[in-house]
Amino acid sequence: MTNRTDYCGTLTTADVGRSVTVCGWVSKRREHGEHLAFVDLRDHTGIVQCVVDKARDLRSEYVLAITGIVRERPDDTINAALATGAIEIGDATVEVLSVAEPPPFQIDSRVDVDETIRIRHRYLDLRNKRMQSNLRTRAKVNSAIRNGMESEGFVEVETPMLIASTPEGARDFVVPSRLKPGSFYALPQSPQLFKQLCMVGGIDRYFQIARCMRDEDLRADRQFEFSQLDMEMSFADGDDVRAAVSEAVALATEAVTGSRPTEFPEMSWHDAMNRFGSDKPDVRFAMELAELTDLFSDTGFKAFQAPCIKGICMKGAADELGRNKLDNLTDAAKRWGAKGLVWLKVGEDGEVTSPVAKFMSESEIAGVLERLGAETGDVCFLVADGWRKTVHILGLLRIELGRPAVTEGGLNFLWVVDFPLFEDVDEAGNPVPAHHPFTMPHADDVELLAAAGSDPQRLLDVRSQAYDLVLNGWELGSGSVRIHRGDIQQQIFDLLGISEEEAQRKFGFLLDAFRFGAPPHAGFAFGIDRLVALLCGEENIREVIAFPKTQSGGDPLTNAPTPIDDAQLDELGLRVLPQPE
Ligand code: AMO
Ligand code: AMP
Repeated sequence: MTNRTDYCGTLTTADVGRSVTVCGWVSKRREHGEHLAFVDLRDHTGIVQCVVDKARDLRSEYVLAITGIVRERPDDTINAALATGAIEIGDATVEVLSVAEPPPFQIDSRVDVDETIRIRHRYLDLRNKRMQSNLRTRAKVNSAIRNGMESEGFVEVETPMLIASTPEGARDFVVPSRLKPGSFYALPQSPQLFKQLCMVGGIDRYFQIARCMRDEDLRADRQFEFSQLDMEMSFADGDDVRAAVSEAVALATEAVTGSRPTEFPEMSWHDAMNRFGSDKPDVRFAMELAELTDLFSDTGFKAFQAPCIKGICMKGAADELGRNKLDNLTDAAKRWGAKGLVWLKVGEDGEVTSPVAKFMSESEIAGVLERLGAETGDVCFLVADGWRKTVHILGLLRIELGRPAVTEGGLNFLWVVDFPLFEDVDEAGNPVPAHHPFTMPHADDVELLAAAGSDPQRLLDVRSQAYDLVLNGWELGSGSVRIHRGDIQQQIFDLLGISEEEAQRKFGFLLDAFRFGAPPHAGFAFGIDRLVALLCGEENIREVIAFPKTQSGGDPLTNAPTPIDDAQLDELGLRVLPQPE
């Protein structure tokens, strides 16, 4: 149509003398002498400067086709910050393809624009270099994953979007049925049950870049809708799955960064909790939790007569952490469930300041400093409680104090293995599964499972064959070896307090399928939004999603969610109740 010959951002001094046509949007216009003006024209590759007739009315975001001769800029006007900064397009003729209203925000210098306004006009925000780059990175990741999985013999199978509920533990989005008024489909929280059915169906190696829907509170790393690389393998164990996933992630990373990550170390859940106070440890920095319990075995300090005492040390923070900040950290620890937070500052000559120094003996204090490697200028934080509570609080504090910016510290992948089978015990005394109820117990703990009966405290020690992939403190994905044997599944349902009737109602189709010959199988899913965000150096997955929802779950672009009219409600057999005040 316009005979575009080149993209804006690709022209260099090698093109000098060529007649070219470029197309794009007006990024900026500046007057240049009596008769001429500069127009910076933008497309997805970058910006090029064009010299045009001043008389033309060319405003921001007009869509133009510009034809002219590439020429070198005078030395004193070279812009080293711009890829095309050594050239310009001269003697340009301009065709206006579209006019544009003034944009609600500056597109190329996007500073402090309210995010709701950005999302309201996402089509403008997408013109920005950062969004262009993020979405193209995302496409590269998807393509690398697809190629990698296919070359390993995985088959992409599309599973349905209108289903009965999946057991991922979040709230379902539901869709009313017109043909069966009063009944609802659920949108999939994941393809979990279908991929297991694919294994029973002999697919052997399944994958899908799957859209998942979960009605949960939104955060930096959570949206209602997100994408997973979802996979499942038959006749395979956790090692096989972790190897296949590591390969896919390595290929995706290499496609973006040009270098292939080689290290995918494993750490047990217990070590991760004990050393970092988190099941998704950010191992870009140390500040490990030190064991201090034995130092206080005969302490007179009441608060420290507790089952578990641990501490962390922040190097060189004594000046930075004034009284106010320390009080705020103590308040934060209490919000996280701590009974309190002890801090100790190490001054000149090793002299220690702490509000509780008077309750501790000299040898206790000396022991703490030694275990934590604390020196002049450092601040130590101590928590006493049960083991789970203590490591949890210190883990959060460690992140609060030490977490590097998302763009720092490289990419540190880590497999966390041997998760506990149950994460807690609910009010009715039933253990709460840490993963979905089809997770295979650890082979070495099957006897413990039987012996523990319904003793919740012992049940909490039972490990599972579940594993997570962690990247820089983010949970990238989860998976497990599945239960494929009816007897073990029944034992787990019994422990979880899931009656036969409930199991049949919720997962009857899966249990039925398993009666017809289920291969041993294992699988995994990781969040593509999260991987892409970290590869792009973004703190929030919204930055790598073309059309995200805001924090409050709305879409200011389309105004979703919106009411529907009475006729549509009638057809679905629905009535909307008046909203409570
Ligand atoms: P899980 O529930 O851990 O496992 O989900 C796997 C990964 O999906 C991503 N994720 C999300 N990303 C963005 N927004 C969300 N709301 C969101 N929720 C989850 C995370 C998470 O690690 N079926 C199992 C996997 C299996 O066992 O095979 C599952 O879905 O990166
Ligand atoms: P209290 O004995 O409750 O007055 O607390 C004395 C000091 O010890 C305060 O600074 C508390 O923050 C701290 N503290 C109390 N309980 C704990 C605990 N379990 N772990 C760490 N610090 C605590």
